[in-house]
Amino acid sequence: MKSSFYEKAISRADKLTNVQLRDIANNLMLDKERLEAALQSMFDGIVVCNLENVPVFINRSAERILKIPSGWEGGPFWMAISDEDLKDFFCWALTSEETILGKEFALEGSGGTRIISVSLSALLSGDRISGTIIHIEDITEKRKKESQLRRAESLAALTTLAAGVAHEINNPLGSISIHIQLIEKLLTAKDPPDIPAISKHLDVVKDEIERLKQIVVDFLFAVRPMDIQLLTENPGAIVREVVELVKYEAEKNKVAVKVSIDKNIPDLLLDKRQIKQAVLNLAQNAIAAMPKGGKLGFAVSCANEEVKIAISDTGTGIPESQLSKIFEPYFTTKKNGTGLGLTITFKIIKEHSGEITVDSKEGKGSTFTIHLPVPQKEKKALPILEGSAAIAGSHKEA
Ligand SMILES: Nc1ncnc2c1ncn2[C@@H]1O[C@H](COP(=O)(O)OP(=O)(O)O)[C@@H](O)[C@H]1O
Ligand SMILES: [Mg+2]
Repeated sequence: MKSSFYEKAISRADKLTNVQLRDIANNLMLDKERLEAALQSMFDGIVVCNLENVPVFINRSAERILKIPSGWEGGPFWMAISDEDLKDFFCWALTSEETILGKEFALEGSGGTRIISVSLSALLSGDRISGTIIHIEDITEKRKKESQLRRAESLAALTTLAAGVAHEINNPLGSISIHIQLIEKLLTAKDPPDIPAISKHLDVVKDEIERLKQIVVDFLFAVRPMDIQLLTENPGAIVREVVELVKYEAEKNKVAVKVSIDKNIPDLLLDKRQIKQAVLNLAQNAIAAMPKGGKLGFAVSCANEEVKIAISDTGTGIPESQLSKIFEPYFTTKKNGTGLGLTITFKIIKEHSGEITVDSKEGKGSTFTIHLPVPQKEKKALPILEGSAAIAGSHKEA
């Protein structure tokens, strides 16, 4: 039943008969039982603590996952935890003022290691804070599936890569073979042999060997585990450096550069050299997509726990049928392209736990957007809801 109904009933309690009051109490009890049953039946653990950090509700899953003796009572919640790390964490988290999302722990148990994810947030009653709600999820299976998927993905990537290399190597090898046959012919055709003609073929052979070397170098770069060094850097400043690097190339190609970097861009843990390389690859592709000139845009913004770096162009755009292929190694539509630029960019962004998205219209242009996550701890403790000053500060203030 709705709480507004109960509110009305309470305000008129003195006018109600005993039977009516008993009915209402009965309904209330049923409602409460249903709510408790729902919380008890949840697969995830739920713990509700009051403002003194003493648990007022612990569901069965929480008892099972955290190994709390059934019916445990007394003292702040962390006293119920036997695992030392977890105990320290709860002691710190409950007494500090932070909202915590998905902090992970490994718990040793008889059935092996389980990975659990713990979140804490303020318990709101209306617009007042009346305690803390703890959510515990056993993510062991989820993690297992994820790593299986990752292995399958990397195997698939390796297969494409190997096929790409084989294909790439075939062309120069074929050409070397033809030119060597031609040289052999020239050696026996005339006496003395036609040296200038022979050296022309030798030049082609030399060029093709260079191409083979480059394929190997690029291949190694693409497959080598990246040696990334994360330091505190500002994404906006990195983009500014890339703009400096491409300014002249853009000007030469009649491309106007527009830069927009928001003021609120937080510092992130980044490998500056790599991120610079990733943005540079996107910028160079953008310039290459505008052979008749156009506009190249760099936009850095921050919202919803991520920093976005968007590189846009007014170039040829990418046909729908190619959109799924452009990140594949060796996919190129350029005469002298390597087809590795986007592969490397993708890899760099993945190494930073980020994502890259593409929005493209043929004939209109493309926008490549790098999404970099902003770590939780850099966020405010609680979201500030409009008109509810009580929860704007610490969640223990109310
Ligand atoms: N901004 C863009 N506009 C149009 N096409 C693009 C753009 N960026 C990438 N592409 C397409 O994706 C392909 C792969 O890009 P990339 O991996 O950088 O290799 P490469 O630049 O050597 O061709 C390009 O050949 C091109 O067809
Ligand atoms: Mg490229």
